[in-house]
Parts: sequence; C-alpha cells; structure tokens
Amino acid sequence: MDQEAFKRAAGYRAAEFIQSGMVVGLGSGSTARYATERIAQKLASGELREIIAVPTSEATAELARQGRIPLTTLDEQPIIDVTIDGADEVDPQLDLIKGLGGAQLREKIVAFASQREIIVVDESKLVERLGSKAPLPVEVFAFGLRNTWRALEATGAQVTQRMRAGEPFITDEGNLILDCHYAPYISNAAALAVTLKAIPGVVEHGLFLGMAETIVVAAASGVRLISR
Ligand code: A5P
Repeated sequence: MDQEAFKRAAGYRAAEFIQSGMVVGLGSGSTARYATERIAQKLASGELREIIAVPTSEATAELARQGRIPLTTLDEQPIIDVTIDGADEVDPQLDLIKGLGGAQLREKIVAFASQREIIVVDESKLVERLGSKAPLPVEVFAFGLRNTWRALEATGAQVTQRMRAGEPFITDEGNLILDCHYAPYISNAAALAVTLKAIPGVVEHGLFLGMAETIVVAAASGVRLISR
C-alpha cells in the first residue's frame, strides 16, 4: 500500500466509531478527509442516520457539504460525541502536534468539546519525542508580530513564518502561523504549552496534550488502534 492507501485505511476504520444520532467533529487534513468521505458514504447508503457534524475548517465544511453531511455549530451543539481528526506527530503518551494544515485553533476547540477524540494517522506520524520531525505551529495575532516572534525564539525555537504562494498564510480566523522548530525535539511539552499560552500574542499552539483517546494507525502490516 502507498501512503494514500494508509490514510484511507485509517480514515475509513475511524468512521466505524460513528453511530447514528451522534454529533460528530470532522477534522481537517488529508487523512481525516477520508473519515469524512466514509461518513458521507454511510449516510448515503442509510447505514448511518441523523448525524450532525461540526467541521474544524472551512475546507472540511466544504467537503462535508459536498458529501451531504448535515452541519451544525458548536454554539448549537456544544458537546460533541466523537471527533475524528489527523495529526502531524503522535508520541508514545498519545500526545500530539497538530496544525501543519493551519487549522489547529478550531481543531483544538472542537477536541476540547469532544467526549472522544479519535486521531487518524499513517505510521510515519509516530515519533518518540514531539518536535523531532514536525515544527510546532503557533497561531498568532498579526498585531505585535515582531514581539511575539521574539518571545517564541526565547522558548528555544527557531521561528519561521508560514507562507503560501509567496504570501503570509492566513488562518480561517484571520491570524498568522509561526512554525517553531525545536532541535532536536521538544524536551518538556507540558511546560512549553504553559509558556506559550502566557505569550499575549499567541492565539493557540499545536500541542494537543492529553486530548487524544484513540489513535488509528495505518501501516503496511494493517490498521491498529492505540488507546489511552
Ligand atoms: C490541520 O491543521 C492539521 O492539524 C492536520 O490534522 C494535520 O496536519 C494532519 O494532516 P494530514 O493528515 O494531511 O497529514
């Protein structure tokens, strides 16, 4: 199987967590989209009924609309039964780095509102230490960017601004992303999460600590579940 097939296998397996009548969180990224695709198929076939979903990005909302998945908002449905989302890194404690797709703010708000957070990845996302492969995305306000940048550097990061087609990347909430590279890895993710939250210009960071309940991992050997 190639990597795309792994992503599909993980997404489709995770869709089995969804039952009729649930409020579902729909994650963002190229792996979670397969879960959304599968939920749409199950709704179309009648295998699932009366699902209502909260998307974690505008891109996912569009995908869900194409798949005729009824959408709602967190204000209408503040408690989500199950969310299926992707991740950029997963460590042995099931802590995550998310946000290489730029959607970590909404993803974290949705994860926080979810009774079960199911993460779908291919095996390449499994790491011993967070930050060893991926940068840590930090969503920041444009106001005071230079000060925020310096404060992030003071946490030990090499900081780069996320760009797209030569322009600053703008999130769904209208903010910027600074990617923080911690070489060779993040030594204390819990402490770093607290430090980042104390920087006024930081909107949200991509450390998801203690939030994932189950990881659905697709590999050449098959799909396996790792649970807390
Ligand atoms: C989106 O902001 C991210 O958190 C994604 O969930 C993450 O980047 C995983 O995406 P892929 O499944 O495309 O790797």
